[in-house]
Amino acid sequence: MKKLYIGTNTKMTKTINESIAFISSLQDLTQDIREKLNLFVIPSYTTLYPVSKIINKDCISLGAQNMCWEERGQFTGEISPLMLKEVDTDIVMIGHSERRHKFYEDDIVESLKVQAALNHGFTPLLCIGETKDEKDNDISDEILSKQLKIGFSKVKNKGFKEIIVAYEPVWAIGVNGEPATSEYAQARHHVIKNTLLEIFGDNAQEIPVLYGGSVNIDNANEMLEQEDIDGLFIGRSAWEAENFNKIIRQVLPIWEKKNNG
Ligand code: 13P
Repeated sequence: MKKLYIGTNTKMTKTINESIAFISSLQDLTQDIREKLNLFVIPSYTTLYPVSKIINKDCISLGAQNMCWEERGQFTGEISPLMLKEVDTDIVMIGHSERRHKFYEDDIVESLKVQAALNHGFTPLLCIGETKDEKDNDISDEILSKQLKIGFSKVKNKGFKEIIVAYEPVWAIGVNGEPATSEYAQARHHVIKNTLLEIFGDNAQEIPVLYGGSVNIDNANEMLEQEDIDGLFIGRSAWEAENFNKIIRQVLPIWEKKNNG
């Protein structure tokens, strides 16, 4: 059976000691179900090296929150693929909404990063999502298709080891009020899957499309029940290992039921 993709991006919230404590606890708590999960954690850069020393890769994959597309040179403040290799990173997150909107990254830059990640043997996790304005103007689907088509435009050989896509509506990230409904998320996931089919042909079926944006213990089940949602990408509700473990155990039967037909 396909493993459930579920992960967290801890953003700029945990120090080295806090990241180690979180990941140690998460791997202990999920030990007995690890075979059923593609569980990943994406902590801050400075924690990657110490975390790589304690993480059990049979339980949890390690991701970086960003990466420069160049290997070396005059790119002050950037981290290169070679540096991420040194700290044993598996996944590279590309185009998180906070990178796009707070640090002005665009689709072309994301496409360079996707290509560099694949060239260096990382799994790119491309994040896409529309803003509230785009949603209100009814152009969400065009925006998502554009982000995918440009984001993957430099993937020369359309065969790849692993690519992950996360749909995170910008307006639904980090909010307490109105997260997306599962119907809305499913409709966008459907468009995303069709666009991936256009780009990658049959290989698109190998690409899990995760939902993120205020996922919590109350809405996780109905999100994962949706036909085109293949996993969950969680922020705040996953930052305590016990809470994350609760969500994982709660949704796992839903995933198993969905995959057994
Ligand atoms: P929240 O779950 O806190 O909305 O964050 C989601 C996110 O940005 C994951 O990358």
